[in-house]
Amino acid sequence: MTDVRLIHAQWSSRTAFILAASGSAIGLGNIWKFPYLTGENGGGAFVLIYLLCVIGLGVPIMMAETMLGRRGRQSPINTMRTLADEAGASHLWRYAGWLGVLAGFLILSYYSVIAGWSMIYILKMGSGIFAHTDAEAVARVFSSLKGEPEIQFIWHTVFMVATMSIVSLGVSAGLEKGTRYLMPVLFAMLILLVLYAMTSDGFGQGIAFMFKPDFGRLSGESVLTAMGQAFFSLGLGMGAIMVYGSYLPAHVSIARASLFVAAADTLVALLAGMAIFPIVFANHLEPSMGAGLIFQTLPLAFGQMPGGTLFGMIFFVLIFFAAITSSIALIEPAVAWLAENRGLARQAASFWCGLGCWLLGLGTVYSFNDWAGYTWLGKNFFELIDFLTSDLMLPLGGLAIALFAGWVMTSEVSEAELEMGPGPGYRCWRFLIRYVAPLGVMTIFLKALGAF
Ligand code: TRP
Repeated sequence: MTDVRLIHAQWSSRTAFILAASGSAIGLGNIWKFPYLTGENGGGAFVLIYLLCVIGLGVPIMMAETMLGRRGRQSPINTMRTLADEAGASHLWRYAGWLGVLAGFLILSYYSVIAGWSMIYILKMGSGIFAHTDAEAVARVFSSLKGEPEIQFIWHTVFMVATMSIVSLGVSAGLEKGTRYLMPVLFAMLILLVLYAMTSDGFGQGIAFMFKPDFGRLSGESVLTAMGQAFFSLGLGMGAIMVYGSYLPAHVSIARASLFVAAADTLVALLAGMAIFPIVFANHLEPSMGAGLIFQTLPLAFGQMPGGTLFGMIFFVLIFFAAITSSIALIEPAVAWLAENRGLARQAASFWCGLGCWLLGLGTVYSFNDWAGYTWLGKNFFELIDFLTSDLMLPLGGLAIALFAGWVMTSEVSEAELEMGPGPGYRCWRFLIRYVAPLGVMTIFLKALGAF
């Protein structure tokens, strides 16, 4: 007879993993970053490269990262060290873990500032100032926010304190329960926004912009950005999924869970784009306006909608929740490492990590105003950190994970750990992880360098 308890336990832990991983994947990357990068990089061709990166690099690397986590069962740095030992490989692999810890830390520093903007917009939406407004007024509200470091400072601090409290109390279990209900609501509201966009004049143009590739507009750097965004949005390449994988019980299908998370993440990003670009074109705005895109388009749509004040508020609350479930994933590898290797209590580890991120985040706050003039390679502080992490560190981390899982780990181990059997599914993964993913990342790096 089958043991009912066992089946139940497996089902619930699989759900817990999927919730945690989707919570990490779905965040500002989907709703804020994907639309604005698509706008800056000319639309369709960028989206196509992004989708190819999700399928060809993202899914196999997500499976590999989860698998390494489940096999190593420690923080990413220690996992890499243990698994390298097991395979008789060099200890240098632990630097891949280090790279990830650092990347998560750097990303959270600016992520928190943008999450702060979303919290400010909860209040702004609620105050009703956007009711029946026009594009110019909405732009003015955003640019005055950008120009005021004080208010950004306050909400960046609030967000960071919230993140670190959750991480130090370890109440992420409660948050996962929240994720279970809030994500579907976010999803439903996005559908609602897309339906609303369908009624606007800009719908056809918006859809054409997103889905009609014009490769003439695609530079080497755009291709690199598309790859970086695939890693960023899926939350890959820095050990976040590795940490979650380390809590994953045996006999859960990593392949199925990864496919589900990647599909949900991609769908949310595409829906966000389909909601926003029609508003852009209907109001004759610039798709390439940059990091302020959602803050200068969504209020317009909500302002014209019946019940928009309330809907708009709820929507920004949901963005906040999506952001916080991602931010705890970003900092978890650093906190776990401090707790495991430096013997710090979880609270102390969270405090120091949070303080560091908060300080560094001030650079981003000021990069939009007082320090906007300080640039390097044409990028301000925020853009530099973003470029360094999304476009370089995450793909490099992903490359290391692919090489390790495909070439260092023996096929006996990976086959046993993935539990797909030796059939076509496993062979397909192995081909992707050994050849497609490493060559894909390297080709895109070379293309961005202008090698061809
Ligand atoms: N994926 C999240 C988003 O789209 C951000 C995030 C969470 C992330 N964990 C990560 C990005 C790990 C890179 C690496 O908002």
